[in-house]
Amino acid sequence: MRDALGAVQSALVLGGGSEIATATVELLASERCKTVVLAGRDPAKLGPVADKLRAAGATTVEIVAFDAADTASHEQIVDDVWAAHPDLDVVISAFGVLGDQAAFDDDPKAAADAAIVNYAGGVSSSLAVAKHLKAQGHGTLVVITSVAAMRARADNFVYGSTKAGLDAFAQGLGDRLEGSGASVLVVRPGFVRTQMTAHLGKGPMETTPEAVAVDVVAAIKKGSHTVWSPAKLAPIFTAFRFLPRPIWRKVAAAASK
Ligand SMILES: NC(=O)c1ccc[n+]([C@@H]2O[C@H](COP(=O)([O-])OP(=O)(O)OC[C@H]3O[C@@H](n4cnc5c(N)ncnc54)[C@H](OP(=O)(O)O)[C@@H]3O)[C@@H](O)[C@H]2O)c1
Repeated sequence: MRDALGAVQSALVLGGGSEIATATVELLASERCKTVVLAGRDPAKLGPVADKLRAAGATTVEIVAFDAADTASHEQIVDDVWAAHPDLDVVISAFGVLGDQAAFDDDPKAAADAAIVNYAGGVSSSLAVAKHLKAQGHGTLVVITSVAAMRARADNFVYGSTKAGLDAFAQGLGDRLEGSGASVLVVRPGFVRTQMTAHLGKGPMETTPEAVAVDVVAAIKKGSHTVWSPAKLAPIFTAFRFLPRPIWRKVAAAASK
C-alpha cells in the first residue's frame, strides 16, 4: 500500500536486469520504496542490481528466478511473490529481446521465440499479476512496450509486431481493470541507450534509462494510463500511423540509416 503521501513502498520487476527498470526502481527507492523483488532468468546477474537498490534506500531486496519464455510457470511465480509480499504497489514488466531482423529472416523459429518472450510472456505474467492487483484493490502494472509498437518498420518488424501486440494487450488489460482500483501504465520509450541497444549507432532523439525513469515515476504518481518517453515522440509516432504505406517505407528506411 502506498504511504500517506502516496509514495510507492513496494515493487516487483519482471525482467529485473533491465536498465530502464533498474533506473526506475532506483528512483522509487530514493523516494521511500523499501521492498523490491527482482525477477530474472539469471538470478546470479541480479546481485549488482540489488546492491544498487539497497544503496538507493531499499531495505528488502529479493531475487527470484523468472523466465519470460516459460509461460506455464508464471502464475506460480507471481503467486509465490505475493505470498511473501501480500501487498505490492507497482509491478514493472520490463523483459524483452530486440533480436536482429536479418537473422530472423533466416531463422523463423528464433523469430517465434522472440515473440514468445516479448508477447506471450507478457500476456501470461501480466494476467497473473492483474489477478493479485485486482484482489488487493490497488496497484499499478507498468508495461514497457515501445514507440516501435506504433508502426512496423521493415528493418525490425518482428520486434515491432511483438510490441504492437503487447501494447494492445496492455491497453485492453487496463480497460478490463477499470473500476477495480488497479491500473495499467503503458510506457512507450523511444531509442534508449541500454545494453539492448549498445551495439547500435546513435538513435534518433536518443534518451537514457534515467530520463525514462523520471517520466515513468511521474506517470505512476499521476495515475496516467500511457506515457511516451520522451513526450515529444507522441505526436510524431501517432502521425506515422497515418502515412500512406509508400511514404512510410521511405520514412522508416531513412530512420534506419
Ligand atoms: N532500449 C531501448 O531503446 C528500448 C526502447 C523501447 C522499449 N524498450 C523495452 O524496454 C524494456 C527494457 O529494455 P532495456 O532497454 O532496459 O534493455 P535491457 O537492459 O536489455 O533489459 C531487457 C531485460 O529483459 C530480460 N530478458 C530477456 N529475455 C528474458 C527472458 N526470457 N526471461 C526473463 N527476462 C528476460 C533481460 O535479461 P538478461 O539480462 O538475462 O538477458 C534484460 O534484463 C524491454 O521490454 C525493451 O523491449 C527498450
